[in-house]
Amino acid sequence: MSFVEIRSLSKRFGDTPVFEGIDLAIEQGTICVLVGPSGCGKTTLLRAVAGLTKQDHGTIAIDGKDVSALESKHRGIGMVFQHYALFPNMTVEQNLAFGLEQQKLDAATIARKVSAMIALMGLEARAKARPHALSGGQKQRVALARALVLEPKLLLLDEPLSALDAQIRKRLREELKRLQREVGFTAMFVTHDQEEALLLGDRIAVMQAGRFSQVGTPAEIYNRPANLAVARFIGDFNILEPDAVERAFRLRPEAAWAIHPQAIGVANGKIPPGFHRAEAKITAVHILGAIVRYAADVNGVALKLDTLNRPNSAMHAPGTTIPIEIAVDDICTLNE
Ligand SMILES: Nc1ncnc2c1ncn2[C@@H]1O[C@H](COP(=O)(O)OP(=O)(O)OP(=O)(O)O)[C@@H](O)[C@H]1O
Ligand SMILES: [Mg+2]
Repeated sequence: MSFVEIRSLSKRFGDTPVFEGIDLAIEQGTICVLVGPSGCGKTTLLRAVAGLTKQDHGTIAIDGKDVSALESKHRGIGMVFQHYALFPNMTVEQNLAFGLEQQKLDAATIARKVSAMIALMGLEARAKARPHALSGGQKQRVALARALVLEPKLLLLDEPLSALDAQIRKRLREELKRLQREVGFTAMFVTHDQEEALLLGDRIAVMQAGRFSQVGTPAEIYNRPANLAVARFIGDFNILEPDAVERAFRLRPEAAWAIHPQAIGVANGKIPPGFHRAEAKITAVHILGAIVRYAADVNGVALKLDTLNRPNSAMHAPGTTIPIEIAVDDICTLNE
């Protein structure tokens, strides 16, 4: 049995179903990332797991125990939401100690746990500060620390980094990954950010219209999306409907193609077996740091293709035509 087992869970608000009969299993010590379009039910699912909203049907088990009918406070869950609220009149230390005091732990144990967590989060210099005197990233770390210090069996994180600027966000998600390796907590993590999902998730569950369209490892989701919605979530893909494939490559597939920009190569010499080739006219060149992204036109079909940006490599100028090739194995053939 998995650490978290969600079975046949259904929830509707009035006449509108949010999700119907969904199943999800999460192994101990792993992060399951939930992604999907706005309004698809991610927050509602977390709230159901937390016991803050009651499901209509189905069960939720945590650590081998059915918690479906338990009150939220008895589920052993820690939560960090996008709009976290720290206690404004308490210092960082006091914010962290609060939940432990509620658990009636002795003062020495509380002090030890709080200072260990403050060190783990790199908040030593701000331990005596009140929330108003903290930066956004520091507040977010305190919110995480306050949840973690209680050593919850399961941590629920609903876009906890989305209020932060890109730099701090990147740093915090790496810290979170490191923490997870060190502390070994189990988590459900909601994000809209593709990079964050791939980096943090041991597994990623893609939600779409009240069900999971795919649950898999980051590599599976990124390289083998189950359908077009998952490919669209990954975002980078070139998605070509069958008639576009026919125009560009002169063959007609049954379903759409999804091709990563880095799977399209510049061709030279003979066409190797298992490759499709076409002539591409470069329309624009963008340097995105480590990669050079070309926009190209292939018989009226727009394609983006990536090459590595090396100091010495010559770039293809807009207006030039180059032969391109794609390995058949790199093409994902997908339906809606
Ligand atoms: N208390 C409520 N009463 C009625 N409808 C609700 C309630 N809470 C959520 N909904 C509806 O349920 C659906 C799912 O909402 P939810 O907040 O779970 O989406 P989400 O996936 O978290 O979206 P986002 O990415 O925008 O946060 C939405 O259509 C929302 O309007
Ligand atoms: Mg939400």
